[in-house]
Amino acid sequence: MKRPKLGTGVTFKMSHLPEIQKGALLVDWFELLADHHLVPSKRLSSALEVIKGTYPLVLHCTGLAIGSSTPLNFDYLARVKRLADELDSPWISDHISWGQVPGAHFHDLLPLPHTKEVAEYVAERAKIVQDYLERPFALENVSVYVEAEESQMSEWEFCSYIVEKSQTFMLLDVNNIYVSAHNTGFDYRDYLKDLPWNQIIEIHLAGHTEKTTDTGKWIVDSHNRPVRKEVWELYKEAWTRAGQPSTLVEHNGIDQTFPDICEEVRKAKELQEESNYAATRLAS
Ligand SMILES: [Fe+2]
Repeated sequence: MKRPKLGTGVTFKMSHLPEIQKGALLVDWFELLADHHLVPSKRLSSALEVIKGTYPLVLHCTGLAIGSSTPLNFDYLARVKRLADELDSPWISDHISWGQVPGAHFHDLLPLPHTKEVAEYVAERAKIVQDYLERPFALENVSVYVEAEESQMSEWEFCSYIVEKSQTFMLLDVNNIYVSAHNTGFDYRDYLKDLPWNQIIEIHLAGHTEKTTDTGKWIVDSHNRPVRKEVWELYKEAWTRAGQPSTLVEHNGIDQTFPDICEEVRKAKELQEESNYAATRLAS
């Protein structure tokens, strides 16, 4: 399967529709949180009609809980697939996490122990999901606040193994790398040493919040602040090494206005141009 390259997009929010309709945006595409839209609604349908004709829409999911021990939820997948068909989503993504036990769904992206056994389990299920969805399926590295005692490999080795073994794709969230590195104590620069670069279909950029508690200083993946300098550095390197994949500025739409978010898109494009210019200079 190919990696469609869409340029630089942002998370779609209904509240931004009037500004989107004005047009002349730097934004190339929108990512839609599928879980909010699995029940058909007239309001959403008419909004998406406006977007659909002008911008590609890509579905991003949080509800699959692929690493859980419960069976894969094909009712959920059928709804996602129906929406993806309706919007012509070029790929679909979810997270390398768990969140279900029999009879309960936690609605959290809980981290998995980084073991070969778990990686094999997730890879097998990821392949089934991709075959079922009949389009590229990408898995995202989550932000982590605690590391499992059972882990035997680094997070990047774990994610790479899953993506390579299943022949699916990776959604690399460079802010999540920084957040997890701070909270669990690894060097964020180590993450990019060895990744399945040809299988990275998308990169997420986002901001985060620092919190000090009785247990120390933590970073929370809040999506409501500007992207941090170190995350931009990670982005530039990852975008270049992955062969210029699609980029998304993630936000929760609460503390940042649509122009604030577009400013992050402008910065991403500026870095992409710098990277292209450097590559041209090297080649000449
Ligand atoms: Fe993300």
